[in-house]
Amino acid sequence: MANARLLFDTRLPVGPVNRRLFGSFVEHLGRAIYDGIYEPTHPTADADGFREDVRELVRELGVSAIRYPGGNFVSGFRWEDSVGSREDRPTRIDLAWHSTETNEIGLHEFHSWLESIGSELVLAVNLGTRGTLEALDLLEYANLPAGSRRTDERMRNGRTDPFKVSMWCLGNEMDGPWQLGHRSAEDYGKLAAQTARAMRMFDPALELVVCGSSSRHMPTFGEWERVVLTHTYDDVDFISCHAYYEEKGGDAASFLASAVDMDAFIDQVVATVEHVKALKRSDHVVNISFDEWNVWYNERFEKVDKLTGVDNWPVAPRLLEDGYTVLDAVVVGNLLISLLRHADRVTSASLAQLVNVIAPIMTEPGGIAWRQTTFFPFALTSALAIGEALTTSVESDTYDTTAYGPVPTIDAVTTHDPATGTVAIFVVNRSLTETTALQFDLGALSNAATGTAQTLSDEDIYAVNTLENPNRVSMRDNDSLILDDGVGSVELPPVSWTVILLEDPGRAKTIPPRGNRLHA
Ligand code: AHR
Repeated sequence: MANARLLFDTRLPVGPVNRRLFGSFVEHLGRAIYDGIYEPTHPTADADGFREDVRELVRELGVSAIRYPGGNFVSGFRWEDSVGSREDRPTRIDLAWHSTETNEIGLHEFHSWLESIGSELVLAVNLGTRGTLEALDLLEYANLPAGSRRTDERMRNGRTDPFKVSMWCLGNEMDGPWQLGHRSAEDYGKLAAQTARAMRMFDPALELVVCGSSSRHMPTFGEWERVVLTHTYDDVDFISCHAYYEEKGGDAASFLASAVDMDAFIDQVVATVEHVKALKRSDHVVNISFDEWNVWYNERFEKVDKLTGVDNWPVAPRLLEDGYTVLDAVVVGNLLISLLRHADRVTSASLAQLVNVIAPIMTEPGGIAWRQTTFFPFALTSALAIGEALTTSVESDTYDTTAYGPVPTIDAVTTHDPATGTVAIFVVNRSLTETTALQFDLGALSNAATGTAQTLSDEDIYAVNTLENPNRVSMRDNDSLILDDGVGSVELPPVSWTVILLEDPGRAKTIPPRGNRLHA
């Protein structure tokens, strides 16, 4: 067994844990909406056609804000199609996913659904095939209280009060050649700046997200951020990052170290933000919205699932329905650790996506909804990472990876809730073979502190939850946790994600069973 040591200090916070870090993303793509959250003929459907069983799982997952309606979809989307009486809404083809969009669900329906789960709506505007004027029209429709043709329309469509959407994304992945309306950093930067300024003439308090790179491995990465921010710096609050990871060529060791790439991505974008800030002599702070991140078996999608054919535009096809393994869940848990570690600069993030499409929740039409393996680290981190992220250092062995060279076997972050004194430790063991005994000082916690630990691991790292066996993988109590005389220790099995909760007596709060959400 290997050994590792973890150090945290409740007096050294990195930054507050913003609830928006536990956001998600719902796109009009595949079965995310239709036959996902919405299935009017399902036995659990409510009067509006939304599945109650799915809603319950989304609540349990604990998603704070949801980015909508795309993704690549948004770059061909006319928002006006998705409001008004359903009979009059046009059916359109969606070029991004080669599908048919019925517009049965639009802004009003999605917003009501979000209200029912207590999540915030984040809207993306189409800056691919549309421009500033259409973005302003949507803003006026959504946020102006009353007094214009757009607000009259909204009221006729059943909504008297404005939607009050605070956070807006200025397009999606405009650096990607696959994007409808893809353009150069220079051209996008000018369009984003013009749109941001116009939106702020309506409301200076809006929180605006400009598109960064759709991956750290894009040829334009770095320069894209510099140029786009040069145009937009003082007019936006966030720059986006997107990252998807997958096991390639059977190289699980490199895949397990995906958070190394995410760490570098964040650090490099922050460096570029600070560079532009210095050049502009600006006091304004631009943070990161990591508004798409996950494991995605994109290679399989490109080779097998991608739809083509001028006479083939299915409604809600099964697309991007990755079944997630224990290995994938450990990587997801580690990516959450990376986001928390950067809580001072990453103040918003969206797991992409939510239901059926590269999702923690799967559904069967007319049948059950179930939790994928990745559900557990997300739900528990959302429930237990409360207060502030702490500076956390880990001394551990390293192992060699083809993609990143030698990387630490153990990676961790801690959070501290000043209101209760509770400390949460989130930790992964990235070794494929070896258990590690992790030791940690209890720091400022009293000797009477108590602890609980749960671990996600399995003899079969490729085990998945399926329609036939939806509970094959779940969290288990890790009984190896010992707290003794100011020191804690716990055993971390190979390829595992663990959460440890340390509580001061009298302020008890236990880990909820199977990833249940503790609503703040
Ligand atoms: O989440 C799936 C797709 O990934 C999104 O539509 C796009 O923004 C990204 O490339």
